[in-house]
Amino acid sequence: MITINEHYLKLQASYLFSDIAKRVAAFQKSHPERDIIKLGIGDVTKGLPSASIKAFHKAVDEMAEDSSFKGYGPEQGYDFLREAIATNDFRSRGADISADEVFVSDGAKCDTGNIQELFTGDIKIAISDPVYPVYLDTNVMAGRTGNFADGRYQGIVYLESTKSNNFVPSLPKEKVDLIYLCFPNNPTGSTISKAELKTWVDYAREHKALILFDAAYEAFIRDQSLPKSIYEIEGAKEVAVEFRSYSKSAGFTGTRCAYTVVPKQCRAYDKKGNKHFIHAMWNRRHCTKFNGVAYPVQRAAEAVYSEGGKIQTKALIDYYMVNADMVCATMDKLGYEYVGGKNSPYIWIDGRMDSWAFFDMLLDKAGVVCTPGAGFGKCGSGYIRISAFNSQERVREAMQRLTDMLSAK
Ligand code: MLT
Repeated sequence: MITINEHYLKLQASYLFSDIAKRVAAFQKSHPERDIIKLGIGDVTKGLPSASIKAFHKAVDEMAEDSSFKGYGPEQGYDFLREAIATNDFRSRGADISADEVFVSDGAKCDTGNIQELFTGDIKIAISDPVYPVYLDTNVMAGRTGNFADGRYQGIVYLESTKSNNFVPSLPKEKVDLIYLCFPNNPTGSTISKAELKTWVDYAREHKALILFDAAYEAFIRDQSLPKSIYEIEGAKEVAVEFRSYSKSAGFTGTRCAYTVVPKQCRAYDKKGNKHFIHAMWNRRHCTKFNGVAYPVQRAAEAVYSEGGKIQTKALIDYYMVNADMVCATMDKLGYEYVGGKNSPYIWIDGRMDSWAFFDMLLDKAGVVCTPGAGFGKCGSGYIRISAFNSQERVREAMQRLTDMLSAK
């Protein structure tokens, strides 16, 4: 008899963003005349930087000729991209990361979801609340949690991110082994200072824990005093893995390219307490289960670091941050409290009502899609997340509709 992994039965019915997409599709079907503006899932709307497109085309042409054709590539990524990453994203900021510590992949979602399989089923996991659902769901699937009760999975240490701690969780009171941190944060848009991040690195060193640091939104940081990488913190290389993505920074959500940094000295332990290096384990996993990212896509990603690519990607970010500024200005005007939007494309708004009710009201009355905070965890109740990813015209229109709706309320 084929039997199932019953841990899947503990999961909530569907993945948050699929659930929202289904609700929006149903609404559109019953209201075909309505013009809907999507500020829900963080999906970019602007075309790829021209430097990437040029490199992409050239690489596709190379694939047409026997002399320059590429078959299977290195699973970890081509050296040209790994070198460009180490030089531009890390060494330029004083973080001593080498090319062979970079693993190119097709997404930070997959990598943050997959990495947990390197660790045993009985480790204690700390996850912030609210949280990007992938960290939690993949641990549920792996059987590291009990059942879902009263909005939470048993066995997880939830790190509450609320107004009272400025949406930066405090260190756990109990000892944990694996810690997921995401800054600038998805969903709240909050940021962490170097001093705050250092307390986490120190905690991980002291307790032999590991930090999974999701920095997918680092490109949106405007305050230069904030850390873009956890490796800007002394001692982090032993205790942290970092995840990055070209999805939001260079518009690659449909093109697929990201990377994970696993420093060679990053360690974990066996049951006897012997030290092992995660780099070798992740490399083994990557070679066994991942085929590598397509050559033309890696060339397109490499072009992000060219002189033109840097200017064009900055222009993309600046474009979306004008939207973030528009959302913040609207909330200021309406007197709604929020966090994020200053160094992040997400604005986390206290909706002053049930977050799914706010979602439904916004869709129904204004034809605007947001993400209900409750979908990210118990502490998200009462909040909604608005994403800055859309055209400036559409965001302006959405903010006008939202203003009209809330002013009339
Ligand atoms: C989000 O809206 O939270 C993100 O787009 C999801 C993702 O990057 O997978």
